[in-house]
Amino acid sequence: MKAAHNPYNPGAGTPPPELAGRDPLIAQARLAIERVKLGRPSKSFVMLGLRGVGKTVLLNEFEQVAEQLGCQTAMLETDPEKPLAQQLAPQLHRILLRLDRIKKAGADMQAAFGALRSFASAFKVQLGELEFGLAMTPATGDLIVDLTDLFIAMGEAAKKRDTAVVLLIDEIQYIQKPDLGALIMALHKISQRQLPVLLFGGGLPQLAKLAGDAKSYAERLFDYPAIGPLDPESARRAVATPAERDNVVYTDEALDYIVEQTGRYPFFLQVWGSHCWEHAAKSPITLKDAKEASARAIVALDEGIFKVRLARLTDRQKAYARAMAEFGGEPANSSEVAKILGLTVAQSAPIRDELIRKGMAYSPERGLIGFTVPKFDEYMRRAMPSPTPKAARAKKA
Ligand SMILES: Nc1ncnc2c1ncn2[C@@H]1O[C@H](COP(=O)(O)OP(=O)(O)OP(=O)(O)O)[C@@H](O)[C@H]1O
Ligand SMILES: [Mg+2]
Repeated sequence: MKAAHNPYNPGAGTPPPELAGRDPLIAQARLAIERVKLGRPSKSFVMLGLRGVGKTVLLNEFEQVAEQLGCQTAMLETDPEKPLAQQLAPQLHRILLRLDRIKKAGADMQAAFGALRSFASAFKVQLGELEFGLAMTPATGDLIVDLTDLFIAMGEAAKKRDTAVVLLIDEIQYIQKPDLGALIMALHKISQRQLPVLLFGGGLPQLAKLAGDAKSYAERLFDYPAIGPLDPESARRAVATPAERDNVVYTDEALDYIVEQTGRYPFFLQVWGSHCWEHAAKSPITLKDAKEASARAIVALDEGIFKVRLARLTDRQKAYARAMAEFGGEPANSSEVAKILGLTVAQSAPIRDELIRKGMAYSPERGLIGFTVPKFDEYMRRAMPSPTPKAARAKKA
């Protein structure tokens, strides 16, 4: 088929030609935005799911919905290397500038700019021109206090202008524990005052384990919808519908095969669709086409994303990942993994933690460990045919 017409869009955060199976979540976000704008209690939520399930695509979608509903939005992809204050300040600045364009009498914008200015100086953030703004009491340097003050000033300015602020934070698992605690406490204060500020987040299923108040607020403040593979019907639609627009169809067996091979994971559906399109000579795309495309897709993934991920690991991390792969795609028991490596649980725990820190693995609950990238287990078994306990026992990482 003509490469120029290939409708599929595999990538990171790239909009799919057909956003299948996510209507309920989009409706939930829309309702939350509508409610917060009306000053009604409304729940923020954080979507948790593995790599390539479509979290970023959904955050972009929510941002569009919020913009259409007349809200002020800011999207942040968390950088693990930077403190949250530094990452948030420029985004909040942008929001304040936009709020400032909606003219209203009163000194609330000056107060908000003043709060931002104190915040920026306390956390050593360089912002553009911030001349305008009342000299406020200086910020304390305690993120909980200062972020709360800033959120309140921003929320009040938004409320007065009949709009709402919608923050979208991607890769939320990278926010350092104290910063995440502060963000939660600040949002808690905002919701107590029913100010129109909402957060939508996306991240890997493992979020920082918070302590104390932050934890109990986080539990009540947010929903955590799990986002995973598409349901079978939506998975078929994700592949079939974009082709139909170009008068290309798949046979039922071809679609069944693709749905099965991809595990219904959105990223893989795009990859498989794309290879089917490239490979098939004409419509309909048959089971034979789908099988050949599937073989090519696997080679391309191995040589592309999987190999790059494996190359980031040390020898002992590779050995640990290979042992995990013995248990298939589902999270494994870390004590069983240790057993394969010939290590005690205590000896293997640091390696497991390294894999978690590198974003390769996550722990859905105590004692369990799984790959963050679907199908990585299959790749590990292809790349390293047998587990190698020796490498893990080697002293040096
Ligand atoms: N509902 C969907 N239907 C079809 N394709 C989708 C859907 N959601 C996402 N995709 C496609 O899947 C791929 C991955 O999407 P996205 O980058 O949003 O995933 P992610 O969960 O943010 O992954 P990561 O954790 O790696 O950031 C993209 O190519 C996107 O077009
Ligand atoms: Mg993403």
